[in-house]
Amino acid sequence: MPDIKAELKKEVSRRKTFAIISHPDAGKTTLTEKLLLYGGAIRLAGSVKARKANKYAVSDWMEIEKQRGISVTSSVMQFEYNNFCINILDTPGHQDFSEDTYRTLVAADSAVMLIDGAKGVEAQTIKLFHVCKLRGIPIFTFVNKMDRASKDPFELMEEIERVLGIRSYPMNWPIGTEGDFKGVYNRKLKQIELFGGGEHGQSQVSSTVGKVDDPIFADLLGSHYHDKLCEDIELLDMAGDEFDKKKIRSGELTPLFFGSAMTNFGVQPFLEEFLELAPSPGVITTSETEIDPESDKFSGFIFKIQANMNPTHRDRLAFLRICSGKFTKGMSVKHVNAGKEIRLSQPQQFMAQERTIIEEAYPGDIIGLFDPGIFNLGDTLYEGNGNVKFEGIPIFPAEHFARVTPADTMKRKQFIKGIDQLSEEGAIQVFKQIDIGIEALIIGVVGALQFEVLEYRLKNEYGVQLRIQNLPYRHARWIENEGLDPRKLNLPSTAVIVEDKLGRNSILFENEWSIRMAEERNKDLKLVDIATQDFKVRKF
Ligand code: G4P
Repeated sequence: MPDIKAELKKEVSRRKTFAIISHPDAGKTTLTEKLLLYGGAIRLAGSVKARKANKYAVSDWMEIEKQRGISVTSSVMQFEYNNFCINILDTPGHQDFSEDTYRTLVAADSAVMLIDGAKGVEAQTIKLFHVCKLRGIPIFTFVNKMDRASKDPFELMEEIERVLGIRSYPMNWPIGTEGDFKGVYNRKLKQIELFGGGEHGQSQVSSTVGKVDDPIFADLLGSHYHDKLCEDIELLDMAGDEFDKKKIRSGELTPLFFGSAMTNFGVQPFLEEFLELAPSPGVITTSETEIDPESDKFSGFIFKIQANMNPTHRDRLAFLRICSGKFTKGMSVKHVNAGKEIRLSQPQQFMAQERTIIEEAYPGDIIGLFDPGIFNLGDTLYEGNGNVKFEGIPIFPAEHFARVTPADTMKRKQFIKGIDQLSEEGAIQVFKQIDIGIEALIIGVVGALQFEVLEYRLKNEYGVQLRIQNLPYRHARWIENEGLDPRKLNLPSTAVIVEDKLGRNSILFENEWSIRMAEERNKDLKLVDIATQDFKVRKF
């Protein structure tokens, strides 16, 4: 009998599961590629080229996958490095930004925030950061594209604090930020790491160790850059935050790394520090109990459902994040929300497109389960008899709204069926307008592309043509006050009162200004922008 306790301890401690959050074009694909390169999951850099030809395909990785015959996909990428087992969760960006992008963060133990050094903190990063902050997960910041002119690094630190409300601790410090990048000063190792230039570099950079005021650095850098570096480091040491692992773990302080993914400068040191500082899967607190990842009872929750990945089958794939115990193919588990015992005997598809069947997996890993329609977002699977139920997946605020009706009224039944299905998958949010007695539903989505997906899928899967009338609303807020009749509220004339699928009252607003106006006019009104407020954060 193998020692399962020891096995779990070992496997949990070497797992690091994280997501990269960024704004499109900051270099997420490039950074991911370099990380995979270090992990040996791909052999050659330069697959960026392959990706380019396929830039707006659903998955940037499909091409690389085909070419190299490896298991990287759009959903999860697993690779080994220095005896760590790393799971990178892909957060769909570009125009396929949707609620899935947010939900993925619920399955991550930490996040890497990637920022374009010249652009600073951008819109999509702010939204994703907000979700990470709510969950209290540690955030590691990589400031990319330092090979080009960038913002002043002090200015960037100030911007991160002002816009995101988190303080940062620079792990290294850039030298030459006006398009004359020389390298970085590594604060921990007290060494200068020189930038060799080049494209898609793979070679090690040279480094020189010594105190920052060591004359050897003056020779290396020239007095202009050396003087500036000495001043900067002195200022950081005096006025900056102290390195504090506890604060990093609790998401109060973000370690800041400067580098360049494309030229492969600073990526390996970043990876190594990240692996040392980032948490492995931790204890999860639910309302009933605490779940220790090293418990011998398997548990996990569904955080994403993807339909019809194979167009010839009407199947769905449910993505499950393992929280405790060991997964083995064919095991029986309790589907807690349905109150049923189910055998995970259907081929277990790992990592979406490739559909490799896996034999075993551990906490922190993501597995794809064949779903004949039995799973919902937030469902718990559990092996034991106890009362284990995870808190469910929050519903994130939609930003685009439309009134949607079937073009042919005779198709109403199929229309409702299709809408129900897509809302169960979490691809759309369904609202009913309650202040007027009309039938038409209001559909809300996080990314505008979801309307195209809705139209396409209703036509192809349910034979229903849609009439979509875009509405001017941009924000949905749930009303937290119990028993409040929303019709009695004094709202701006452009706001509309709706009810969500679970009968909760919400208000749709056109802009932030109207939200503030509603709050000012109705002093007791409590509005929230994420529906499930009780989703517990992990404890480390
Ligand atoms: P994304 O997934 O976050 O959207 O970004 P992606 O990696 O596709 O990178 C966006 C662009 O930024 C790409 O250029 C990429 O080469 C470039 N880039 C990424 N990292 C760096 C870096 O460290 N330095 C510099 N200078 N550029 C970087 P592109 O012209 O859009 O595509 P391509 O021709 O490089 O394929």
